[in-house]
Amino acid sequence: MQIQAVGLSHHYRGAEASALLELSHTFEEGTLTVVSGPSGSGKSTLLYLLALMLTPSLGSIRWGDQDVQALEDTERSELRAKHVGFVFQDAVLDLSSSALDNVTEAGWLAGMTRVESETKASELLEKFGIGAKARFRPGEVSGGQAQRIALCRALVKSPSIIFADEPTGNLDSDSADVVWRALEDAATEEGATVIVATHDKQRTKRMPNQLRLVS
Ligand SMILES: Nc1ncnc2c1ncn2[C@@H]1O[C@H](COP(=O)(O)OP(=O)(O)OP(=O)(O)O)[C@@H](O)[C@H]1O
Ligand SMILES: [Mg+2]
Repeated sequence: MQIQAVGLSHHYRGAEASALLELSHTFEEGTLTVVSGPSGSGKSTLLYLLALMLTPSLGSIRWGDQDVQALEDTERSELRAKHVGFVFQDAVLDLSSSALDNVTEAGWLAGMTRVESETKASELLEKFGIGAKARFRPGEVSGGQAQRIALCRALVKSPSIIFADEPTGNLDSDSADVVWRALEDAATEEGATVIVATHDKQRTKRMPNQLRLVS
């Protein structure tokens, strides 16, 4: 699904300056776009806005041919659960349930059956090298492993839109390669619109779709 930002600005309540100013950009289906820029330039803010988790101060957002801001909150939440996989800058996981249950839950919230979702969840945990941690809780694994659980949670529903905020920040080089490849495959093989905020210049400098924010 194509995502379009038109004249997006965001000003957090009480903040002195705008976190994002008049940004317009079209993110095409089947592509991965790298969002870069210095710390504080608004990368996370942009992802939250596009994912409908924040409402912009000005401007509009379209998903496909739909003006998604015009929708009621409940409709926005439903759309998000169904279509969006979001990997947060700090892994956001349910600390009281296992890695496998954390990932499985996102699948059935998106409408998959329990069995479908659990099967896919196990496959993903294996793929990202944390199959052995399936029964562990997020508090019982390392930061990089928690990050990979969060990635599995985002990917389990085969979302048409994927946002990832510094998904490889806590990973060693080999694990980061696996994650980048999975995100690129989601775009090129599954047709997802993938938007990744990152400071990882080394790995992303040759990627064709770049959006650089300035502070
Ligand atoms: N909840 C908030 N309330 C007020 N100001 C905020 C809030 N979140 C972010 N900001 C401010 O908005 C600006 C953009 O922040 P944002 O988190 O989007 O930057 P970023 O590019 O993701 O940075 P980083 O690379 O450090 O993750 C910063 O000046 C930040 O201090
Ligand atoms: Mg950020």
